[in-house]
Amino acid sequence: MTQATTEAKAPAIVRPGAIRDSIKVEPLTCAIGAEVSNVSLADAAVDETLLAEIRGLWLRHRVLFFRDQDITRAEHVAFARRFGNLEDHPVAGSDPDHPGLVLIYKSPDKPNDRYENAWHTDATWREKPPLGCVLRCVECPPVGGDTMWANMALAYEKLPEAVKAQLVGLRARHSIEASFGAAMPAEKRLALHAQFPDAEHPVVRTHPETGEKILFVNSFATHFTNFHTAERVRYGQDYAPGASQLLQYLIAQAAIPEYQVRFRWKKNSVAFWDNRSTQHYAVMDYPPCHRKMERAGIMGDATF
Ligand SMILES: [Fe+2]
Repeated sequence: MTQATTEAKAPAIVRPGAIRDSIKVEPLTCAIGAEVSNVSLADAAVDETLLAEIRGLWLRHRVLFFRDQDITRAEHVAFARRFGNLEDHPVAGSDPDHPGLVLIYKSPDKPNDRYENAWHTDATWREKPPLGCVLRCVECPPVGGDTMWANMALAYEKLPEAVKAQLVGLRARHSIEASFGAAMPAEKRLALHAQFPDAEHPVVRTHPETGEKILFVNSFATHFTNFHTAERVRYGQDYAPGASQLLQYLIAQAAIPEYQVRFRWKKNSVAFWDNRSTQHYAVMDYPPCHRKMERAGIMGDATF
């Protein structure tokens, strides 16, 4: 047997080190998002070095995209679990065999089930909003159904200094009742509110790992809770002058295209985003086609 033949017949086993060397990272915009190739998330779940590398890229690019992840639900969950415990969603159902894996299946026969086509950060109505999410496409429409993400650290950085000055110490209320609950009959809505009372967060939160300042209001935010100060409010009836306009202005920042990336799904594409520093919007332009996504939401920490 010649040397050449031996090389040609070498088994297709690649050392972990060689896999890492071959990782390809392609930023998709100047603001946010990178596509990472030559990585299996099933392998990453059991490879500390690879995992650390992915974590670094994730913090830097805020949302990572992986193609061709033909992985099982167990592997999907195992990868996400490396970043924290998973949580279910009170409205969207989970796979009973894989708690924490939320099934976001859209079809034309569920016309009211349209929640994700608004700019939002997941579950900020929780006192401890999720750290991040690992979302996998199981079935996608032939065209449409993209998801967009926005970099909310950049959104804060680019605010006018006079606006930033108004946000110091300001806090906002976030409500599942006013969002998911709004489409429910009153009794069900009130029960949801009793189970998940509104949460309060700083309007500008600090990223617990990078120390960045992040604009942290989104469509779950209903109002500022401490806007009423002697400097801002001259008379009691002048309850909160300009507060709602300021809140809407801040919420609207995520819609600025210069802060965004838009991702075209294919079957087995995965997006892994940092929920602390981003917002996202799932474009609902594909009915009457179907779209099936599976999402592992990772528990996060209290905001500060
Ligand atoms: Fe979401």
